[in-house]
Amino acid sequence: MANFPKGFFWGGAIAANQAEGGFDEGHKGLVISDFTTAGTYSVPRMDTFKTKDGEIVYLGGLNPVIPEGAEPVTVEGEYYPNRIAIDFYHHYKEDIALLAEMGFNMFRMSISWARIYPNIIDDEPNQEGLDYYRDVFKTCKEYGVEPLVTMSHFDDPICLDTKLGTWENRRMADYFEKYARTIVREYKGLVKYWLTFNEINSQMPMVPPSTPASKVEGGICLNRLHTKFLASAKAVLAAHQEDPNCLVGCMIAGGPGTYPETCAPADMLAQIFKQQENYYCSDVQVRGYYGDYAKRIWKQYGATFEVTPEEERLLLAGHVDFYTFSYYMTQITSAEPAKAGPSGFPIFKKNPHLKYSEWGWAIDPDGLRYTLNLLNSRYQVPIMVVENGLGAVDVKEEDGSVHDPYRIEYHKAHFKAMSQAIMEDGVNCIGYTMWGPMDIISASTGQMSKRYGFVYVDRDDEGNGTLARSKKDSFYYIQKVYKSNGEDLD
Ligand code: BG6
Repeated sequence: MANFPKGFFWGGAIAANQAEGGFDEGHKGLVISDFTTAGTYSVPRMDTFKTKDGEIVYLGGLNPVIPEGAEPVTVEGEYYPNRIAIDFYHHYKEDIALLAEMGFNMFRMSISWARIYPNIIDDEPNQEGLDYYRDVFKTCKEYGVEPLVTMSHFDDPICLDTKLGTWENRRMADYFEKYARTIVREYKGLVKYWLTFNEINSQMPMVPPSTPASKVEGGICLNRLHTKFLASAKAVLAAHQEDPNCLVGCMIAGGPGTYPETCAPADMLAQIFKQQENYYCSDVQVRGYYGDYAKRIWKQYGATFEVTPEEERLLLAGHVDFYTFSYYMTQITSAEPAKAGPSGFPIFKKNPHLKYSEWGWAIDPDGLRYTLNLLNSRYQVPIMVVENGLGAVDVKEEDGSVHDPYRIEYHKAHFKAMSQAIMEDGVNCIGYTMWGPMDIISASTGQMSKRYGFVYVDRDDEGNGTLARSKKDSFYYIQKVYKSNGEDLD
């Protein structure tokens, strides 16, 4: 029996703000990550702003509240790694050629909204931005690589937060629809597969519902998410109108892969609630309506927004065509709530059965099989794993080689688990795009040294380096797997 079905999509994924650079080129508008400092595993990244009184403030966390009238500011002495990133903006031809050499037949990337509508409300799109992405997609086509394009990957134009009232403003859904319509129309025939918002559920409230902050912060997050659901539904409908052949998916962080800490009933209930939090976004985006448990979550977080009958009809009509998710790790849940870490992410208890990466992420290939099974039985739509990989420190040898057996082992184990899920368990998983095929800037820490790539990029955590690309050992392993459609995994 084959390991993977014929026509399976094999690829890798990047995001504009973590790879592109060219932050002030091509008439692009500014985005929040242009003002996000570098961090480490223990030092959180910060966004730098100047208040209307001239005070410099550092804002952290996943949903920073920008003081009224504050504007982003460049602080001398700070390093902003996303501004140049790995300069995919100028290296895309070389990078896509390397991906094709590895046998990629799919490449997930994102469009930066600020390159298309620098101020969101502009009447006309920015022609330079449109031309840039057109050439990227044409290059993909020349190599037989199918683009999978995320419309929004942690990359909102900054004016959204400083001038347009954040995602709490329901009009954002209309602006997003306009943007989606523009890009789908523009790239019809070049791009067939689209995703609306990357890891939309990363906007779920992070603070445990029992803390006082959760009542304000949690309610705001859920309200903002509601606008994003409306925006996603509008984008799906607009995309289908513009290009009836295109398919639009959702993108969810992590999937519902969690384990109860013990078999105590309270831990099991905590596990179910945690999974429901993970289903919160995909139920709306795939099924077209909020799950019954949403009422409990709204109550816990003090969310007070109304879902109008018209919005209900929109959500139902604008459900997505397929489900995608990022899979890096599983988590432990227990009745005792997880504490928030320095960057706002909760710190979960360690699973004694698993090994952990240098950045403390659980390595759990069987969890991928378990997650794929859960998702398949719940949604019954095609699934893609659109992020997965090992962030690790690589050593470049004097002769330029990089020996990364740990990365090969990681992918091999995940390929085997994915194959079992598809071929033995019957999961309808149609593709896999690992994260960061060439090294890029880490989203959580801003580091280059957290490398996922099969292609090494010469750049360090302070912005030094030639940006030259070179092949790691894993490059040849992946080439063998992808070119054999997963037949040769060892
Ligand atoms: C996902 C994001 O959460 O994880 C990516 O969609 C991110 O943008 C990836 O880069 C890996 O996380 P990190 O922090 O190691 O870059």
